[in-house]
Amino acid sequence: MRRYLVAGNWKMNMGPAAGCQLTAEVQDLLKGRALKGDVLVCPPYLTIPAVSEIAKGEPVLLGAQNCSDQEKGAYTGQVSVDMLKEAGVQYVIIAHSERREYQKETDDQFVAKINRIHQAGLKAIFCFGEVLGERKEGRAEEVVRQQLQGVLPKLEFANAYNTVLAYEPVWAIGTGETATPEQAQEIHAFTRGVVSELMGKEVADFMRILYGGSCKPGNARELIGLPDVDGGLIGGAALKAEDFVGIIDGAESGQN
Ligand code: PGA
Repeated sequence: MRRYLVAGNWKMNMGPAAGCQLTAEVQDLLKGRALKGDVLVCPPYLTIPAVSEIAKGEPVLLGAQNCSDQEKGAYTGQVSVDMLKEAGVQYVIIAHSERREYQKETDDQFVAKINRIHQAGLKAIFCFGEVLGERKEGRAEEVVRQQLQGVLPKLEFANAYNTVLAYEPVWAIGTGETATPEQAQEIHAFTRGVVSELMGKEVADFMRILYGGSCKPGNARELIGLPDVDGGLIGGAALKAEDFVGIIDGAESGQN
């Protein structure tokens, strides 16, 4: 059985003080509970060291929102995987739609980053998903296949244990609009089928596929309870401890 993963992507919110307060509130709400899955927070780089002091994996794990595709050196403004590892990071989000759109990141960069993440022994959360126009044109599956095919077969350490997928329909991110359970299950099952073609059935059965896009306490149970949805990548609702824990509660009761 796949353990769920509920991951909070704080984006460009929460400085060190606010980030520590939020983490402490989440820990407080989860105190004494034995969870069936994993909980992760992904603060901005600057906030990671402070949150790392209090998030010791019990039960909150620590992630980053990006990393450099280079090992080290003259790359002004970049942060390497080794630095993240030293700061206590266990997971790194790669290929978020906001980085695809605003930073124009490419498949080759995603491959380089994910390989570095795996080499360092960390885990990558690889995001993909179609934009509204593509869904309206009936091309959602074609786009998802393209995005998976552009990256997964090129990974050196194509190791199921180190890769989590996150399907995020771009039209649902931060919009309040969520994929219906039917839409989510359909495309998650399709994704698992593509992974099976590219990496084999064993990997496909093992790999966690998260849903992201306006996930809230009110819809988490239904979404994360779907057979091929193994957790959520949460933006806005991860910034309030009660909402984030509400989604974890939904995952707990929806876990199949
Ligand atoms: P949202 O963001 O939950 O605010 O829609 C999800 C994401 O971008 O990962």
